[in-house]
Amino acid sequence: METTGQGAAKRFHVTTFGCQMNEHDSERMRGMLSSLGYTEAPSREQADLILFNTCSIRENADSRFIAHLGEAKRLKSEQPDVVVGVGGCWAQSVKDEVFERFPFVDVAFGPGQIHKLAEFLTSDSLSAQGYFEFEDFAGHLPTQRTRPFQAWLQISQGCNCVCSYCIVPSTRGREASRPSGELLAEVRALAADGVREVTLLGQNVNSYGRDLRGEGRMTFADLLRAVDAVDGIERIRYTSPHPKDMKEDVILAHAECPSVCEHIHLPLQSGSSRILKQMRRTYDRDRYLDRVALIREHVPDAALTTDIIVGFPGETDEDFEATLEVVEEVGYDGAFTFVFSPRRGTLAAELDGRVPHPVKKERMGRLVEAVQRRARERAERFVGRTVDVLVEGPSRTDPSRLRGRSRHNKAVNFDGTAGPGEIVEVEVAAATSQTLLGTEVLLSRAG
Ligand code: SAH
Ligand code: SF4
Ligand code: F3S
Repeated sequence: METTGQGAAKRFHVTTFGCQMNEHDSERMRGMLSSLGYTEAPSREQADLILFNTCSIRENADSRFIAHLGEAKRLKSEQPDVVVGVGGCWAQSVKDEVFERFPFVDVAFGPGQIHKLAEFLTSDSLSAQGYFEFEDFAGHLPTQRTRPFQAWLQISQGCNCVCSYCIVPSTRGREASRPSGELLAEVRALAADGVREVTLLGQNVNSYGRDLRGEGRMTFADLLRAVDAVDGIERIRYTSPHPKDMKEDVILAHAECPSVCEHIHLPLQSGSSRILKQMRRTYDRDRYLDRVALIREHVPDAALTTDIIVGFPGETDEDFEATLEVVEEVGYDGAFTFVFSPRRGTLAAELDGRVPHPVKKERMGRLVEAVQRRARERAERFVGRTVDVLVEGPSRTDPSRLRGRSRHNKAVNFDGTAGPGEIVEVEVAAATSQTLLGTEVLLSRAG
């Protein structure tokens, strides 16, 4: 393939760190680069453009990325024409310091400035460039999806919350919702292109629409209903809602819309009201448990998952026990557990009462044990049931079997013959805390 008469097409390689928002941003980078005539290289060694889409949520995210950057430095010293680009939240958090610390980097850009990468690549600029403005939504880049039948839909950018531990408001800026008409047009186009499952993305999805005016204004619950009404979309997921904004209208949309999946990721962070206040989460333990009760009332079988931080400054044994109590009481289907990591520029990084490392470690061990035990117990309810599975492809651990996800967002490994993108019934024979095991229904009947 030729670009604009300059010989063979240039090749890019992108490494993505962090959350789904970054995964989606990388899909948009791929789409944008392919419209510039680039193709994707299978490895960094073979790329003319080496990109990193970075995350800065915790310290280990920073250090993982910096380890990878070393390889880019080596490749660039061997082949000085290679262009090295660093995008995403880490880049935004250090801005032009990127070039002081890593002089071999040619271009750096924040999460809101992906489109500027194209500007850089098509200009004659010989000097390093950084792009870190916050702008209006730049959601109009072409996207290259990883799987043809699944798509992300970014419904808002940024975050107006002030969680004291979190770097995201400073890397992604103020919250801005995309007009509902634009979103629904995108969903219709995705459905026409073969997409069956969409995941609505935002830092706080259920505050969606509050900043919109006029015709495009819609609440998050209304948006769920409108996406549900689009023909061809069979599964709707979203991440993440904030417990403070989890209202009955959203829960009723789960109960009443056939495509909205029976899974809610409801970040707890801590079970101690005292710590929640220090975290500036604006709900307390009782209010959180009320939300859970409301979900259980309207969608009794819903899977609940969560995020929990251990070792926030000043966390006492008593505070930690309160977190364990909530874990026992709610019975999550799964949880992401994190050790508190002080982030530059955040309030919590300045708080006294650092929890010693061995204490954090011991608490983390107990938390993971409780989370996994409860998740295993919860998963037992699926054994003997038939669940709908959206097939993703061969199982990673055993390629003779298939892998997919249930509506409850459980990974399912099963014997069957279906192809990627099909939704099939699977009879569940066994469950672990993370995975269900089973057989495709037609097969088991035939055999
Ligand atoms: N906007 C989403 C996701 C935020 S980041 C939300 O509010 O749910 C994902 C998770 O990372 C958070 O829920 C939190 O549990 C964790 N996290 C964020 N900052 C952290 C920090 N400084 N240290 C440890 N964990 C952190
Ligand atoms: Fe961070 Fe809180 Fe916003 Fe989530 S809601 S992105 S944790 S500030
Ligand atoms: Fe996501 Fe990491 Fe940024 S979690 S929002 S990529 S800091």
